[in-house]
Parts: sequence; structure tokens; C-alpha cells
Amino acid sequence: MNIGILGSGMVGQNLGAALVRAGHRVVLGTRTPHNVDEARGPASKSLGDWLEQTAGRGRVGTFAEAAAEGEVVLNATSGAGALDALRLAGAANLDGKILMDLSNPLDFSRGGLPTLFVCNDDSLGERIQAEFAGVKVVKTLNTTNTSVMSDPGQLAGGDHTIFMSGNDAEAKRQVAGYLRDWFGWTDVIDLGDITTARGTEMLLPLWLRLYMTLGTPMFNFKVVR
Ligand SMILES: NC(=O)c1ccc[n+]([C@@H]2O[C@H](COP(=O)([O-])OP(=O)(O)OC[C@H]3O[C@@H](n4cnc5c(N)ncnc54)[C@H](OP(=O)(O)O)[C@@H]3O)[C@@H](O)[C@H]2O)c1
Repeated sequence: MNIGILGSGMVGQNLGAALVRAGHRVVLGTRTPHNVDEARGPASKSLGDWLEQTAGRGRVGTFAEAAAEGEVVLNATSGAGALDALRLAGAANLDGKILMDLSNPLDFSRGGLPTLFVCNDDSLGERIQAEFAGVKVVKTLNTTNTSVMSDPGQLAGGDHTIFMSGNDAEAKRQVAGYLRDWFGWTDVIDLGDITTARGTEMLLPLWLRLYMTLGTPMFNFKVVR
């Protein structure tokens, strides 16, 4: 499958590498596709190093190229930059497609632990869906660390939970299949329409505090019923 990933940070690189290993072709989108030598954030490699491990099945392109070439598109851009990145990707390149939205509305501008720049009665997932009405936005994977996202089996044999929110039932059915087949997620809870992204985005303050308390990002939520 051809998969477009918007985002060149640790999430885009990690999921892109996992998808390439699983046999998919990936275009990783960035504003600066010709600048592959620079490290992309503290925990991510340069895109040149990323490309090397993809054995020809990965490519670095613009956001528009990643959106156009992806049969499915993943949004792994910063929360604050997500709408701008999607505008660069272009509605025409995204229309009719599933957009798996992994982004969180984190505001780092005040220093210390980030706060949420939208919450409670709105969410970033809803803002994306409202502006890109022709896109099937499915919010998912935003409640766990990227290493767990791509390999849930590392923790408790994979017996823990990931959430989905979106307006299109068929798109969510497909996304549940992608989450299982690409990464091994077995407990995928469909929370309902895109307004339910408020709940998963608002898990972030708890996630961040757990990260500090436990001293590791290698944990996840499990819904016991
Ligand atoms: N890190 C995790 O484990 C984790 C877990 C769950 C969810 N998330 C969420 O996943 C997303 C990606 O996280 P990350 O740590 O990989 O990277 P990040 O540093 O949050 O985002 C990097 C990407 O955002 C793009 N970007 C930033 N500002 C932009 C702007 N104004 N216009 C257009 N694009 C812009 C960058 O574009 P360029 O490539 O052009 O620089 C880059 O591709 C975030 O929303 C984060 O909250 C992360």
C-alpha cells in the first residue's frame, strides 16, 4: 500500500520505518524535503538516515506529495502546525481519503509542561474535520508514545487499548484493520464521532504527568471491562 505521512519528527520517522518494514511504500512529508541532512528534533534522526533504512521503499517529499501519493494519509505534525501543514498538503490531494490524525493540541509556548490550546468543547480533530470536510478524519494513536504505537506487543503482550474517533463508520472499520495489520493493535475502541477526540486529546495532561512520575514513556492505558 502507498502511505503518506505528514510529519518528519520522531512519530513520522518511526511509523514510516515500521510501515516500510511491513512492506508498504511511504512518502514522508516535510516543508523542507531537500534538507535531509539535518536532525529532525532531539529524538529523531536526519531524514538521510531515515531514508537509508527504507531500502528504496521510503521517500521524502513535500506535504503535498505525501498527501497525493498516499492511499491513506497519517497526520504526524505538531498540533500547533497541523492545520498549516494540511493546508500545504492541499484539500484536493486529501479529499475522499482517510486521514489518521495522531496530533495533539499541545501548547509549549509557556515553558514547563505543555497545556492544551483547544479542549473541553472542541478539539484539534474537530478543527481538522471542519476545515477539511471532504476528508475522512479518524483520530487515533495520539494517546500513546510512538514506540508503543508501532509495536504495542512490547507492553503486556499487546493487551492494552487504543481509541478511534471519526464521523465515517466505514473509515473507522478500515482504520481498525490498519491498526491491527500494520502494528498489532487488538483492543481498538471506537468512541464515536469526531467530537469524541476531545476525550482522547484531554488524556494528554494525564499522559504527560504519568511520563514524569514513571520516568518512562513506555506505558499505555488499558480499559478493563
Ligand atoms: N512523540 C510521541 O511519541 C507522540 C505520541 C502521540 C502523539 N504525538 C503527536 O504526534 C505529532 C508529531 O509529533 P513529533 O514529536 O513526531 O513531531 P513534532 O515536533 O510535534 O512535529 C514535527 C512536524 O510538524 C511540522 N510542523 C511544525 N510546525 C509547522 C507549521 N507551522 N507548519 C507546517 N508544519 C509544521 C514539522 O514540519 P517540518 O518537517 O517542515 O519541520 C514536522 O514535520 C504531534 O502532534 C504530537 O503531539 C506524538
